[in-house]
Amino acid sequence: SPSDPDLVERARAAKEKLGDKVFVLGHHYQRDEVIQFADVTGDSFKLARDAAARPQAEYIVFCGVHFMAESADILTGDDQKVVLPDLAAGCSMADMATAEQVAECWDVLTEAGVAEQVVPVSYMNSSADIKAFTGRHGGTICTSSNARRALDWAFEQGEKVLFLPDQHLGRNTAVRDMGMSLEDCVVYNPHKPNGGLTADELRAAKMILWRGHCSVHGRFSLDSVNDVRERIPGVNVLVHPECRHEVVAAADHVGSTEYIIKTLEAAPAGSKWAIGTELNLVRRLANRFAPEGKEIVFLDKTVCFCSTMNRIDLPHLVWALESLAEGNLVNRIEVDKETEAFAKLALERMLALP
Ligand code: 13P
Ligand code: SF4
Repeated sequence: SPSDPDLVERARAAKEKLGDKVFVLGHHYQRDEVIQFADVTGDSFKLARDAAARPQAEYIVFCGVHFMAESADILTGDDQKVVLPDLAAGCSMADMATAEQVAECWDVLTEAGVAEQVVPVSYMNSSADIKAFTGRHGGTICTSSNARRALDWAFEQGEKVLFLPDQHLGRNTAVRDMGMSLEDCVVYNPHKPNGGLTADELRAAKMILWRGHCSVHGRFSLDSVNDVRERIPGVNVLVHPECRHEVVAAADHVGSTEYIIKTLEAAPAGSKWAIGTELNLVRRLANRFAPEGKEIVFLDKTVCFCSTMNRIDLPHLVWALESLAEGNLVNRIEVDKETEAFAKLALERMLALP
């Protein structure tokens, strides 16, 4: 929907008043009305790096979800303040692994006698507590654009990986990219005693996958892939690795949001694409590339927006920018010092991956 001209003008004026004091980051899943005010856009890896590369900005306004704002706070200086325009913009996947559950899991691994061989690898889509757990236990963070490199690194440090919290990214990377078998992976269910696994199963596994998933990407199905191939002959199916394994296995290309954009930029005129990722991004890409004769459709019409990404809308952004311009620091995201120290260790291991 076109943005309200009054709000557009107010956002522009507040941003101008703040000048270099503010830097606005926008994840690719954000609404168009918000993206138009982003100083940079990116996937979660690029945004984490960009936040750290802007030490002169006193305020980082993060248009994305809570874990991204936390990561930005961890990676930026103490005098930089990270602001999330709506505090209710969380991530259901990140919420699927709590600090208590993960501590309990580590106890289970210890009891089974495998903890010493396990290196935790946590997806960026996790709370600062989970990142700190990862740092404490010698592990690294990964995003969908470097999961393969993170796992290669982890298997140089130990024999097993505990992958948190997205089972699909973990399984897809291990099986599709690294040639492991489905039997090398087990799923740890935090709602069952001992994760629902026996000590023998834990000893035999290479990948211990946390039972978490994305509520948006998890809804694309093998049927959606088959249907679109029937409907649009010659279509290329391109999906995010948060999709389920059978969807990824049936797709032609798999990658992060940044990869999806680059692939479409390089695609020839006349090519046809079905994209399995968040709808704001797919619509924006469809509109952007239509004049070049690239046909881009959403992989499954029954899947909807990421509701938490969508909480950041123009009224929230205007409110945050105007408050900052008037000297009121609102909706600051601040990770406590101890958590930050260990989470930073894990994030820096990621940033140092080859
Ligand atoms: P990327 O931007 O890293 O591809 O991840 C997408 C995502 O689901 C963020 O929530
Ligand atoms: Fe979380 Fe999925 Fe939304 Fe990304 S798309 S923020 S993983 S719920």
